[in-house]
Amino acid sequence: MSTGGIIDGKAFAAGLRSRVGQAVDGLIREHGLKPGLAVVLVGDDPASRVYVRNKAAQTVEAGMNSIEHRLPDDTTQETLLALIGELNADEAVDGILVQLPLPGQIDAQAVLDAIDPAKDVDGFHVINAGRLATGGAALVPCTPLGCLLLLKDRLGDLSGLHAVVVGRSNIVGKPMAQLLLGANCTVTVAHSRTRDLPAMCRQADILVAAVGRPEMVRGDWVKPGATVIDVGINRVPAPDKGEGKTRLVGDVAFAEAAAVAGAITPVPGGVGPMTIAVLLRNTVEAACRRRGIAVPTL
Ligand code: GUN
Repeated sequence: MSTGGIIDGKAFAAGLRSRVGQAVDGLIREHGLKPGLAVVLVGDDPASRVYVRNKAAQTVEAGMNSIEHRLPDDTTQETLLALIGELNADEAVDGILVQLPLPGQIDAQAVLDAIDPAKDVDGFHVINAGRLATGGAALVPCTPLGCLLLLKDRLGDLSGLHAVVVGRSNIVGKPMAQLLLGANCTVTVAHSRTRDLPAMCRQADILVAAVGRPEMVRGDWVKPGATVIDVGINRVPAPDKGEGKTRLVGDVAFAEAAAVAGAITPVPGGVGPMTIAVLLRNTVEAACRRRGIAVPTL
């Protein structure tokens, strides 16, 4: 899955999607179970529309049912909660994902906490966050779980390694720290107020950057030989490509860091493709658990 120092998330994600597809074939054959994933998009944020379209396409490609709900930007919290209630009660729905961000009139955490925790394939419900923190059987947020899968594929046993996670969001930083703790790493969670962030990062055997600041982590923040996981996806101007052109960069200055790191995820083609692949995996897991069927190893 990984060539030289570059961790090929695109290839790993393709392999995972194919394993999910095989698992779905087995569920249909042996249990007559075709898992269904419901995705809810409120408003028409262009990036969210692209994500939702890709999620739906890859769900169908893996042999599962995709159920899409598109609601206008001025949707009330009451309307959204009513839809969540219907999806919770619908036997054909195994996973529910509400695309974030939500418009300002809606209390996002209240909506996420209205999702049946057994169908919470994003792992954002407070019950799943609590289970992850206490070592229970949780549905785990897709992006950090994707990072963990890449790390284990590259490094094998992570025990005793010092992992520094830069970023403390509920979606990535906090669950990433919990997963690394669960894998027996020594974990530091750093953030914008951390004193001497470069020195802290230089202590990391595993450095996970999830801050949303283009190329913030520089080459001299990386310990020689460290494994660097770049969660950032930032669109920045690229005047060298022509007027008005843009490019995607991560939270890590790739060329500088790659010269020092033992292994590093590129942007694009690193963590990004893992998120939807893990979402599909979580949907299979949710479908099986809810029905007391053994979860296939993926
Ligand atoms: N918006 C950006 N990333 C995510 C994600 O992982 N899940 C959801 N629901 N919305 C997002």
